[in-house]
Formats: sequence, C-alpha cells, structure tokens
Amino acid sequence: KDVVYNFNVTWVTANPDGLAERKVVGINGQWPLPIIEVDKGDQLIVNMYNGLGDKSTSIHFHGMFQNGTNDMDGASMVTQCPIPPGSSFTYNFTVNQHGTYWYHCHTDYCYPDGYRQALIVHDKDAYFAHQYDEELSVTLSDWYHDMMEDIKPKFMSLYNPTGAEPIPNAFLFNDTTNLSLSVKPNTTYLLRLINTGAFVSQYFYIEDHTFKIVEIDGVYTEPTEADTLYISVAQRYAVLLTTKNTTDKNYPIVTVADSTLLDTIPSDLRLNSTSWLEYDGSAPHPQADITVAESSDLVPIDDSTLVPYDHMPLLENPVLSIQLDVVMGMLDTGKGYAFLNDISYTAPKVPTLYTALSAGNQTTDATVYGEFTHPMVLGHHDVVEIIMNNNDSGAHPFHLHGHNFQVLTRFPSYGADFFELKGGDPVPYDPSNHSAFPAYPPRRDTLVLPPQGHFVIRFVADNPGVWIFHCHIDWHLAQGLGMLFIEAPTQLQEQMTIPADHLAACSAGGIQSKGN
Ligand code: C2O
Repeated sequence: KDVVYNFNVTWVTANPDGLAERKVVGINGQWPLPIIEVDKGDQLIVNMYNGLGDKSTSIHFHGMFQNGTNDMDGASMVTQCPIPPGSSFTYNFTVNQHGTYWYHCHTDYCYPDGYRQALIVHDKDAYFAHQYDEELSVTLSDWYHDMMEDIKPKFMSLYNPTGAEPIPNAFLFNDTTNLSLSVKPNTTYLLRLINTGAFVSQYFYIEDHTFKIVEIDGVYTEPTEADTLYISVAQRYAVLLTTKNTTDKNYPIVTVADSTLLDTIPSDLRLNSTSWLEYDGSAPHPQADITVAESSDLVPIDDSTLVPYDHMPLLENPVLSIQLDVVMGMLDTGKGYAFLNDISYTAPKVPTLYTALSAGNQTTDATVYGEFTHPMVLGHHDVVEIIMNNNDSGAHPFHLHGHNFQVLTRFPSYGADFFELKGGDPVPYDPSNHSAFPAYPPRRDTLVLPPQGHFVIRFVADNPGVWIFHCHIDWHLAQGLGMLFIEAPTQLQEQMTIPADHLAACSAGGIQSKGN
C-alpha cells in the first residue's frame, strides 16, 4: 500500500529541557516531529515543502537501502541538491526492510536543530512478533540551546584550532528531560531505542531489569540477554522487556552520556537522565543508584558478538580491501580537520550521483568525481572489505548509506578495555595477528570505531548508487570525516532517471546540474 506523509517544514519554538526556548525545525507546525510508521512492503511517499524561509534542507531515511532509488537517499550534494526555501520535493520509495530506523535532515548540519525522528517499519512476520504484547519507542538525543547557524561559525573558525566539538546543553529522552514510560505489570514490550543525537553516545539501562536484544539497526538478531547498551548516535536497538509482576515501585531508566567524548564537562551539564519505567504513578520513585564514577566504567554488551537471526554466513574473499586511517588534525591552513587517508571530504558543486549519470563511459573512472570527494568505484557484486584504523583518541560511529555490513572484528571490545588505549599508541589492524572471524558476523549500518582501535567490515556491492560513508558525529562530517562509494555506476546509469522536482531543486538553488 501507499503511505503518504505531507511535511510542511517550518520553524517553530520549543523548550524540551525547560531551560531554553529556541527555534527548532517543525513539521506541520509541530515539534516533536511525527514518527513515520509503515509496514514492510509499503511504498513510502513523503511530499516535503521547505517553508523555513532561510535555510535549505533535505531528508535522509537512515538505514533504508534505497535499492534502485539512490536518488531518494536525501544526502545533499551526494544524491540531490539541497531543497531551497520555497521549493517542494518528493521522496518516493519501496520499503523492503523491517525494524527500527529514523529520518533526519542531511544538508550541512541541520538535524541538531531538531529535524530528526523515528521511522518504524512494522513486520508481522518478525520471528518475535508473537513474543510481545505492546510496543514502545524511545529516542535518546543530545541537545543544544543555540541554533546551528550560530554554533557553526565559531566551531569552524580559527578560534577553535583543535576542532573541539560543541558541548551539548542537555540530553533528551523522547524530546523531554522527564519522561515516564507507563507500563503494565507482567507484560512484554518491544522497546525500540534510537540515538537521534548529533554527537554523544549514551549508555542505557533500566534498574533491576534485563532485556533481550532482538534487532540492531534493522537486522534481527538471535535473542540475546543484556542489561546495559552503548548506543552511539544513529544506532538502534530493539529489545524485549518483560515487566515485573508487582507495581509497588517504579524504576529509573538510566541513560549516561559517554563523557569521554566531551573535551570539557560544564558543571551544570547533567550527564545522566532520570526517566521512569512507571508501573504505578502513585508508587515510590526511588532515585537511580548510579554507582559508577566514570561513564566508561559501565560494561555494555558488545554488539560485535551478536548473531544475526538469518545466519547469513561470513562473506569470503573480498575483491577489494580498503584501508582507511582516521586522523583528526588541526585547523591551521583553513583546510579542514578530519581526514580519511589524508583526504578531508569536501562536497562537490554538483551532486555526485548526477555526475555519475552524466559521465558516460567515464563513470567508472574515479578521477571524474574530484579527489576532494574521496571517491572509490566499486564493481557490481564485488565483496568489499573496509579496514578502519583510528589514530584519534575519540570514538567514531561510522555509517554506510545504502547497506548494512558484516562486522568481522573490532578492537578493543566494549567493556572494561574499550577506553584503555586512550592516550597510548593506536593499535592498527594486523591481519597476521587476528583470531578467526565469526561464521555469522553481526550486521548493522552504524558501527563504533573505538578510540585508537580498529574494525574490519565487509559488504557486497549489490546496490548500484553513490553512497556516502561517514562518521555520524555531525561535527565530524562537517570537518570532512567521510568519503564516497561510487557503486556499480554503469548499472546505475541503466536503472536511474532523476525526477523533475529533484532537478528543479538544483536550478532553484542556483546549482548547474547536468542531470542525465
Ligand atoms: Cu544518518 Cu549520512 O546519515
């Protein structure tokens, strides 16, 4: 069936933490934004009008593969022009996936202004569909009191030579700071957790409760018992939570921001939230008993050990193995701070997808895309391996558009050692020194690269398109921590025609697009 959303995007005001009223991006006059809900197999149509007046925008449906619809991926200057104020634009694609996703603006940095929300794909055939009674979804997010347009010039200026990320003012839970999730006793909930933040990873647990992980980033996993999760920005977990059969008290839902990501911690910043798993509003609400001194003392389950429910086997024999070294530099030459193999991603003048479509048989030649976009051409159906080494002492959640990927190995693993290397020497991947890869590696679309550690991932280039691979910390993407995969461009030319309203966004915005 067709599911149609009409989004009139305008500024509205909001005060989600009760400390500062500010302008946020609203949809149809509302914020928090509407949750997009579809059933697996639906056609999702989002008609968007940019009524912001002063800012271009776009929507990326995070985690949607957009197989055959690369032009609907929403990444500005990758697959489309930013949509200028006063223009309309339609996203239209088939949802052949299931699980927990989100949508967000993907133009410059705009989603931290509030333009992000959950996207849920219901699946009546999920293996756990009959194991729960009710469904709840929760977003976790960092929050800034200032508008991105005010933060950005300071952040990207010579007064910030180390590229220090702006420190959020608050952490939100379903876009508020005092959420109660009302539950019934003896009931099993499918609880979907989504970090829609711009920067900070969060630990999550519920006092005196455990749960079973059944999905990560849209991939069903073997049910796996856990009590603590580490959720980076853009990651999702769905868990089955069975409530206790007494209602004599309520339990704190604890989120703790990963303070190791923050260069400074202002004394008035509350790193942990107090929300409630509320059995009975009139029963006691005992304070959370947070015993750790440092957020990094919490021991979350290691997502690289999860097993996908479909037991898709390890992809063997990559045709292409790409090694990427993350370096966070200093802004001394006005050139950018963040590098993958010495290249700081810079957006091109024409969306790279349009270049791929108009390049004729030169489309497989990486040089037509410009070195500054860090393009890498992938052959159709090739198995691709990415080895990432982190020379930086911060964690980086990397996201690949158009795919999920198998996680072969990661070092160090979550838990006690995760932050051990901070300050020591980086440990790059050494193939002669690794234990066997798992037979059924977990798959996800966003994976945390540990501080000074490494990971190895693989995927099949079975989705022709131009896909950006980037650190999902929005500050780092702005600093250039990304690159492009030009995947099977010859096949892409055969299957894709850009709709007129997409090309019109370029001309209305004054961008010369050759289109196809
Ligand atoms: Cu949520 Cu480029 O992604």
